Amino acid sequence: MKKPNTNLVRRYLAVAKVVADVDPAALPIEFAAALLAIAVPYLNIAFLGGLLIALADHWATPALLSLLGGFLTARFVLTAGAAWGKKLAADHTELVNERLDAKTTSKLLTISYPDFQSASMREAYEGVRRGTAMNGGMTSLLENGFHDLFSVVIAAGFAVGVFVTLVRGHVRATALAAGLFNGPGYPLLMVGLLVVPLVIGAWAVRHANVRQAAMIQQIIRGNRAFTYFSSFVEDFLHGPLIRLYRADELILAIQRDATKASNDNYWYGQLGYLHYTLIPNIAVNLLVGVLYLLIGLQALGGGIAIGTVLVAVGYLQQFMTTVNAFISDVGWYNNMVDYLQYYSTFFALPDATQSGHLPVEKRTDNEFAIRFEDVSFKYPDSDTWALRHVTLTLHVGERLAVVGPNGSGKTTLIMLLCRLYRPTEGVITLNDINIDKYNEAEYQSLLGVVFQDFRLFAYSIAENVAASADYDEARVWEALAVADVKDRVAAMPRGLETPITQALDATGIDISGGEAQKIAIARAWYKDAPIVILDEPTAALDPLSEYAIYQRFDALIGAKTAVYISHRMSSTRFAQRIVVFDHGQLVQDGTHDTLMAAPGLYRDLFNAQAQYYTEDQVATERATASAAADTIAE
Ligand SMILES: Nc1ncnc2c1ncn2[C@@H]1O[C@H](COP(=O)(O)OP(=O)(O)OP(=O)(O)O)[C@@H](O)[C@H]1O
Ligand SMILES: [Mg+2]
Repeated sequence: MKKPNTNLVRRYLAVAKVVADVDPAALPIEFAAALLAIAVPYLNIAFLGGLLIALADHWATPALLSLLGGFLTARFVLTAGAAWGKKLAADHTELVNERLDAKTTSKLLTISYPDFQSASMREAYEGVRRGTAMNGGMTSLLENGFHDLFSVVIAAGFAVGVFVTLVRGHVRATALAAGLFNGPGYPLLMVGLLVVPLVIGAWAVRHANVRQAAMIQQIIRGNRAFTYFSSFVEDFLHGPLIRLYRADELILAIQRDATKASNDNYWYGQLGYLHYTLIPNIAVNLLVGVLYLLIGLQALGGGIAIGTVLVAVGYLQQFMTTVNAFISDVGWYNNMVDYLQYYSTFFALPDATQSGHLPVEKRTDNEFAIRFEDVSFKYPDSDTWALRHVTLTLHVGERLAVVGPNGSGKTTLIMLLCRLYRPTEGVITLNDINIDKYNEAEYQSLLGVVFQDFRLFAYSIAENVAASADYDEARVWEALAVADVKDRVAAMPRGLETPITQALDATGIDISGGEAQKIAIARAWYKDAPIVILDEPTAALDPLSEYAIYQRFDALIGAKTAVYISHRMSSTRFAQRIVVFDHGQLVQDGTHDTLMAAPGLYRDLFNAQAQYYTEDQVATERATASAAADTIAE
């Protein structure tokens, strides 16, 4: 993870860039709104000063009246403009929020899979979420933070104008401190009075930021624990685990620790903040006090008119007010900037779909050969090999079974095949071209996969099978028949339209784990991809159902290439080719018969299971399954 930026300016710029990327007009409009809002008090002061000067100069009545007329007109225009600017700025803030939301969601959908899973992505995402959730998030930062910051910049511009006027106002030679006011040192003193508090301010804010950054990291971590806790507890499926293992105590204890650590840090950070924001505040007040003294002396010495004194004091007062307003909330703004800057980290993560552009040749003959060439793989943030030196060719039309103990690398092999991760060493090719070179979406369209931990949507059965709102009803039924859930779905009150679970619809129904798996298998079948992969999608199925489904699936996919993974070795013994994995390595390769003929892991695993599973049973299941397959094929 990139170290959080302790440089205040860079952090504000990072957030400004995030805003400008989604709406380039938002910040200029906010600036214009700040200018219009601040212009009214400045105009009032300028008018009073001008009036005093005009009276002292004995202006004629018509000239005085036109001064008043000009003031009232300008005031009317500025007041109306300020109201309009505020409304326009609010509209753009709304737009920025909407676009950021949309951009965040689409980023989550397109982010590369390893990044999606990585701890740094979770941290950036948590930062973004917290930034948008706390104290009004981006809305508040734009309408208060940036608004106040722009006001300071504008007020500083007016303050510079005051300085220029003051250093040009020479006093009488006999006046008090005339040497100071008329000499070359006065402008330098003015600049010094401006710069010293700025330096003190920058120093204080910098120190505060170091504390702030540490605090934010801690809070994000605590918050991740809390987000995990609340979504875990919310999930209906976690109910049994929590209740039966009294996991509430575990969860609450971990939660309490995280909250305490986060709170301790928060107060430490806040106290540090208070301490550091007080210092620049005092410095600004001292500056203004000294300035008033100087202006008073300068006026007494005849260096500046009484009207100018009024304007100078008024403008500096305004400047002090805007600076105070900004500084008193700077901790709060910086806090939001700290979180919101994670948007740039988050949006900068690489998109999966950006890589590869070769189209996948659309072959009617389904001639696809996939080859792993000396592939080794470590998961991100892990230093053990999940796969080591795997060389394997998947021939067209082949039925490949992958077996091996838990953790031997079977699922990892499929993840790499699906391009969800890239090999750490070696290459995977499709028809002799590195799979990375193909357009990702096109490449993945070749694969129909049911993962071990498959997921269903809370949408209708048909939408689950088709993974789309548009579906071919006849094919959905066919897929359900292959997966052996057709009758169950036909008996549901709303048939294919029945939503799964009541998460989105009160008429939804709950189904068993095995039925859910069957629907996931139907989805892979429906996709009609040339390569189908079942990564033990049948763990919740009884052995007879599993055997029947595998056989039926196999009979019906015709010339397609298929990879079957199962711990029930009787289900995969029919495969033309069986590869055995152990500790990430491919240790055996053959048919059931050749592998059984020699001593080795396959024979040991098979015999261990066979004790519970007789040849007779297998024969009966085979007969049932092929009869069922014949019925569907007809
Ligand atoms: N996301 C991950 N991050 C880090 N390590 C992982 C991850 N997923 C799996 N592993 C590790 O990689 C190794 C291979 O895991 P894999 O899931 O491929 O095994 P498997 O053969 O599919 O096991 P099973 O039969 O239990 O499904 C294991 O040591 C596992 O702990
Ligand atoms: Mg697995």
